[in-house]
Amino acid sequence: MDRIQKLIAQAGICSRRKAEEYIKEGRVKLNGRPVGLGDKADPNKDIITVDGERVYFQKKKSFRYIMLNKPRGYVTSMSDELDRRVVTDLLEGVNERVYPVGRLDRNTEGLLLFTNDGNFANDIMHPSRHVSKTYRVTVRPDINDEQLVALSEGVVIDGKKTAPATVIVLEKQQGRVVLQITIHEGRNRQVRKMCEAVGLEVARLKRTSVGPLKLGMLQPGDWRDLKPDELRAIRTAITKKQDKQ
Ligand code: URA
Repeated sequence: MDRIQKLIAQAGICSRRKAEEYIKEGRVKLNGRPVGLGDKADPNKDIITVDGERVYFQKKKSFRYIMLNKPRGYVTSMSDELDRRVVTDLLEGVNERVYPVGRLDRNTEGLLLFTNDGNFANDIMHPSRHVSKTYRVTVRPDINDEQLVALSEGVVIDGKKTAPATVIVLEKQQGRVVLQITIHEGRNRQVRKMCEAVGLEVARLKRTSVGPLKLGMLQPGDWRDLKPDELRAIRTAITKKQDKQ
């Protein structure tokens, strides 16, 4: 709800001061009744007229850019015909209809973006932009140098070799190894298939960053809006990639 003189000014009819004069002169009506100076209205519901002419309000489109720490067990979808839990169930308090940017498998955790800005979503997902994605991957049982080299140089999945990836061994324990893998493509189940292609079993897969965006301390199941500097950074990353084409 906003003061009526403010709404009239926002709609571009006249200045706020002029609108106050019109109100005092009885020329402004709210749902058919003359209004007073302090009266408020909801531009989405109420009808305001000036001299009998309806004032139209352009809905301000507010884009949202959200980061979720997706837990395992949630499907990346707006709804699921099998009635499984979907990621949008976790976006409590978000009133805009936001969509996931790309997808994570049901059993993959970590950074998933949502937005209602279609251009932004397309830019991030478009293969030509090569936005990097980093994963923390727990594999079993162990990894040898040949497997490491193959993962980083590229392996054939679905009949096509993957682009070079950056692979770092973060931890080595009995029966399991934690890797950090950064890829620049976004093929279907890419990391799992890459690991399977070299004979590794993926025990856990978590996306920790998308371009310059980092999951940080965001807890599983929690979401937050991107900060202005994060939005600037990801936009810059996309633009730079575009310039290189
Ligand atoms: N690679 C996978 O295998 N799964 C994901 O969810 C994301 C990347």
